Amino acid sequence: MKKNQFNTKFGVVAATVGSAVGLGNIWRFPYEAGAHGGGAFLIVYLLFVLILGIPVICAEFLIGHSSGADVYTAFTKLNGGRLWRLVGRMGLAAALLILGFYSVVAGWTVEYIYQSVISFGGATTADELHAQFGAFSSDAVKPLWWILAFLAANYVILIRGVGKGIERMSNILMPLLFVILLVFVINSLMLPKAAEGLEFLFKPDFSAITPSVVLGALGQAFFSLSLGLGCLITYASYFRADTPLVKTATISALLDMLVAIMAGVIIFPAVFTYGQEPSAGPQLVFEVLPSIFLNMPGGIVWATLFFILLFVASLTSTLSMFEILIAYMERSLSMSRLKAVSLTLMVVIVLSTLCSLSFGKLDGIRVFGLNLFSLSDYLSSNILLPVGGILISIFAGWIVERHTVRLELLGSAPSTLLRISVRIIIFNLRYLAPIGIGLIFIFGL
Ligand code: TRP
Repeated sequence: MKKNQFNTKFGVVAATVGSAVGLGNIWRFPYEAGAHGGGAFLIVYLLFVLILGIPVICAEFLIGHSSGADVYTAFTKLNGGRLWRLVGRMGLAAALLILGFYSVVAGWTVEYIYQSVISFGGATTADELHAQFGAFSSDAVKPLWWILAFLAANYVILIRGVGKGIERMSNILMPLLFVILLVFVINSLMLPKAAEGLEFLFKPDFSAITPSVVLGALGQAFFSLSLGLGCLITYASYFRADTPLVKTATISALLDMLVAIMAGVIIFPAVFTYGQEPSAGPQLVFEVLPSIFLNMPGGIVWATLFFILLFVASLTSTLSMFEILIAYMERSLSMSRLKAVSLTLMVVIVLSTLCSLSFGKLDGIRVFGLNLFSLSDYLSSNILLPVGGILISIFAGWIVERHTVRLELLGSAPSTLLRISVRIIIFNLRYLAPIGIGLIFIFGL
């Protein structure tokens, strides 16, 4: 058995889902949906997952699986010219950018594990919880300790390598997270203003669909599915030869979508019940969840458990992003794993410190009106990931040999359903994804 390989079929799906499911579903989706009109955002996002998401996952899978290489060399190995190395470079840059702000939010989850244990310091009303989050997130020191704690956890797992660390943890904790979410869904459905919350989330107001909502939904779809920067290229290079790519892609995308919808069903009934604002922005979830927990029987225990699991979900996501950078440094620059991990970590510490301080001391530094935190998020999710998506689709659709593409996606004994699906996937990669994403860009920006 090779060291750097996922060992079981369940492990492959769990690790891919582990990469996909994270703060993107539980923190980012509700706040983006809340800020962009709820139902209108949801429907566009769902369409993007199905029409563009699944094909682009397949594209990343087949590139990684057939080349067995990291983002940087995969393209050259599959006959891409030197220019394709740019895609790899862009992926590496985007991974760093995302790790910077993601680690800040992951640090917030650590604070909220602590806050849960101390019953949110006695805060109970929406205003008190709002003030509490504001004071914490703008503090110059406290959030930084939690970021370091989070990154230390990444470090310990990363130096042990992929198979053991990542797979073992995903296998146990992802199913557990799912069960806990189910409990909160039931709780939220019984809240007094559940109907209002569900209407906000599920009833699309089509007049609210503007080009910027569409671009936001596209960014959310890519971010949530871990797409566009070669994360899944790297993961697929660790898949076994017989891993069914289309099936794994579809299951992962559907589960990821389900978790985002569950998060919405948990959050919005509570937003209306406890008099909070759906468009509160990045702090939405951190202000609404405590309201839920404080009003639930045994809430403190649930809250603690929830934030621990959210922490773990973030961890399995950041591990996948770190792995891109580390795989590149190990394989293409022949660095030792320890050195690669340490170096990457140091850069991320600097970036996340800057992002964290942009809620306080560095709030004055703004580009296009966005602070460093929101700027990193906007640049990576709404620009770099979709551009990566276009290029990856073009590469898989036009540059990789047709024979290789079919072999990878169809496997040895394809069913009729799979044959039809692969036809649609290849069509989407060749035409729909490049043209569609291109148009969304032109109008959205
Ligand atoms: N998808 C993850 C989440 O929803 C974040 C993530 C992990 C990611 N790897 C990625 C986003 C690669 C973009 C690209 O939390």
